[in-house]
Amino acid sequence: MPTTIPITPVRLKPAQHATITADSLRKLVDFENGSIDRRLYWDEEIYRLELERIFARTWLFVAHESQVANYGDFLTTFMGEDGVIVTRDQQGKVRVFLNSCTHRGNKICMAEAGNKRRFTCNYHGWTFDSAGSLVGLPQEELYKSTCRDFDKAQLGIRNARVESYKGLVFATFNEEAESLEQFLGDYRWYLDILLDNDPGGTEFLPGNIKSRMQCNWKYPSENFAGDSYHAAWTHNSGAVALFGRGVDNKYDQSKVYQANVNGHGWQFGLDFIGNAMVLGEQDILDYLKENEAKFAARLGKLRSRMIGSISSANLFPHTSFLPGQNTFRTWHPKGPSQIELHTWVLVNKSAPEALKDMYMKGVMRSFSPSGVLEMDDGDNWENATATNLGVVTRQQKLHYGLGMDSKVEHDELKGNVHIRKYNDSNQLAFYGKWLELMCDEGAGAS
Ligand code: FES
Ligand code: FE
Repeated sequence: MPTTIPITPVRLKPAQHATITADSLRKLVDFENGSIDRRLYWDEEIYRLELERIFARTWLFVAHESQVANYGDFLTTFMGEDGVIVTRDQQGKVRVFLNSCTHRGNKICMAEAGNKRRFTCNYHGWTFDSAGSLVGLPQEELYKSTCRDFDKAQLGIRNARVESYKGLVFATFNEEAESLEQFLGDYRWYLDILLDNDPGGTEFLPGNIKSRMQCNWKYPSENFAGDSYHAAWTHNSGAVALFGRGVDNKYDQSKVYQANVNGHGWQFGLDFIGNAMVLGEQDILDYLKENEAKFAARLGKLRSRMIGSISSANLFPHTSFLPGQNTFRTWHPKGPSQIELHTWVLVNKSAPEALKDMYMKGVMRSFSPSGVLEMDDGDNWENATATNLGVVTRQQKLHYGLGMDSKVEHDELKGNVHIRKYNDSNQLAFYGKWLELMCDEGAGAS
């Protein structure tokens, strides 16, 4: 699979984008009336700016700690279009550094995952340790005797800042970024429903599915942030195929919500097991029901009702998951009209092994490249992306005005809370964060 790995210098001035100004960006999203310019989904210049001002500046999910549990465990992934290695060093610290040799730029690791304490470049044999430091090179004496000021210590690979939240590892190349705690804010209260409903914590099941879709990265992200409106229509035939009945869209809208914090979105009901039904496994429903009281003792009654509920979430910018159904994915941008999708299955570590297997199979049936529901969504996102490119089509704005006056105060729920799942509030909040970062001309990492 071809990938592009630009070498990121230590610090450059902010790139100049001749035609894109903060004023022109603000005209693309109308929060008052709920409309969005289709340019967001096809414009190459906007895409380049997203890589610089969003993906090179904000915290990005890169791995679950269970994937790099031991010294030398590693995986390769992306931060924007920058290839990175996530690994655990000899001191037990999780490291994230560019997957690019400081000699001529070649990848130093071709594998997707494994255990390695050294990464040796294929081209001339420079070798880096699990902290990204240069520890060996062929004919080092020649370098020492013929180079001006040769200093191996200066030729290590650029590391990102790394912080974790309850098993999820995040990284950023932006030295000036806020802390992860500030970035997540009250969204942690929601994340705990997924990550902390059991004292044993969570893990990713082994294996990672990688696939490509010909769509803009924002379509799947905003969809998971809060587009429950599509489910009863897009997924109805899939639900009939899976369960012999269509999607229920008649539920009581006074008990379903959308909430957003810092552009992160979570839409949910309080039905306890709605999403878990998608897995089609009675044993999983029984497991949840047996543990309901324990969940409530740990998280409180309200949050315990959200554990398996009909819900979806997106952690800004590009990490999405379905609580209860337990698929967890990142939508890596590969140009304005392509993504590389990485999919895992997240489970409670203490869940019985047989149940973990059921979760895996359930996710594969629903949200994998051959999954019934993912194919429904992918088709729509690819067609929307391609259609927006038309030179006449692109002139007509898209409608994002559903449920404009749905904001409510709630005694327990955190963040900006909206009643009724059928509204565009979380998606507009996603674009609010997008716009804030895109308009910020500060130096960041780029
Ligand atoms: Fe890596 Fe030359 S490019 S050793
Ligand atoms: Fe969907």
